[in-house]
Amino acid sequence: MATKLYNVGLNVDENLTFGVFRDENIPTPGDDELLIETLYSGANPADIKHSTHLGIYPTRLGYDFFGKVIKAPSGSAFHVGDSVAGYTPTGIGRPAKYGTHQSYLVCPEKMAFVVPENLPPDHAACLKVVAMTAADALYNLFKLPLPGKSTQGLPGNITGKPLLIWGASTSVGICAIQLAKASGVFPILVSASSERHALLSELGATYCFDYKSPSVIEDIKAVLKNWDFDGVPYAFDTVGSPSGVGSAQMVASCASDDAILVSVVVQKDRRFLMPLAVTDEDVTLRIPGVPHRITIPARKEDHQRALNALQWAVNNYGSQFRLVSVDVFKGRAEDALVELKILADKGRGFGKLAIMHPLQ
Ligand SMILES: NC(=O)c1ccc[n+]([C@@H]2O[C@H](COP(=O)([O-])OP(=O)(O)OC[C@H]3O[C@@H](n4cnc5c(N)ncnc54)[C@H](OP(=O)(O)O)[C@@H]3O)[C@@H](O)[C@H]2O)c1
Repeated sequence: MATKLYNVGLNVDENLTFGVFRDENIPTPGDDELLIETLYSGANPADIKHSTHLGIYPTRLGYDFFGKVIKAPSGSAFHVGDSVAGYTPTGIGRPAKYGTHQSYLVCPEKMAFVVPENLPPDHAACLKVVAMTAADALYNLFKLPLPGKSTQGLPGNITGKPLLIWGASTSVGICAIQLAKASGVFPILVSASSERHALLSELGATYCFDYKSPSVIEDIKAVLKNWDFDGVPYAFDTVGSPSGVGSAQMVASCASDDAILVSVVVQKDRRFLMPLAVTDEDVTLRIPGVPHRITIPARKEDHQRALNALQWAVNNYGSQFRLVSVDVFKGRAEDALVELKILADKGRGFGKLAIMHPLQ
């Protein structure tokens, strides 16, 4: 007799109440989809905020994962037993099968990748959302050359054009700094807490500034002057802080009049562009203050360019690219939910969190 499979995970219901489920319902993959036994799921602020801020509920929580393929369509490039990672679709009406904070998940084949030996499972589970967001900013919004592509003599040559990464110790920032370095961007200016400066210099920062210093804007502008720039031409807010003098405002204060400004969250200042982790399908959301749903159209070519950067990061993981710190949570589903709420409400500080499955 076949052993019964149990599914334990985290969900949000139609009343926007977050909770834990334990049942025997194993998700069913559609055509071109993989059924995966989850070994680690990666935590992101979006796991909670997409429900509370963007109207994506009811659903099961989580986007990032690492696991083993237990069912693949016939003719698939993937095989049963493959170690895979990736992320799953978002948007209003998101089916429960795509939640990654559960023992078994479904992922469209095109959103998964085979994990090589050089990429540890817990790191693989935390990689795709933040790396794809950084890649969308760098390669599609700033239009920088992909890692490893020579820029010598090309109009896209960005050597000598400063890039500012505000809050470079966010996970998006850690990805952005390493991708920018691999693309030949120089100089790279970053803001972060002073205790991160040595690490960020090692990863590729040319100049580090303390975002808590009252003179941070003047300090950045003084360095830009040495490079004959009045303001920075490429400016990336990787924090998206909502309160006080926000991170985007700080970034705008350092930028030239014709700068390309990017922030990880929607900004009232219409000069800012926003990168997205998922750009290969239309995404339908509700935005606070807007009475109707909005659909963000797919950018399929952009998605492919970001995927190329992700593939470079995967191939070079551990040598030219890494997530610096990944903590692993192991334990009760209820406690995992508390961790996600802390991450969404006030942040966990530096580094990523991978949740080990099955949850108890
Ligand atoms: N658009 C998208 O598709 C997308 C995708 C992923 C994430 N996001 C957004 O991107 C942002 C970053 O997410 P994440 O997961 O990368 O963050 P994270 O790893 O949780 O960031 C933690 C770090 O944030 C830094 N930080 C906190 N407040 C700061 C401030 N006021 N100024 C500068 N740095 C500050 C701290 O740096 P220090 O240690 O240096 O103090 C801390 O180490 C979030 O707003 C998230 O919602 C958007």
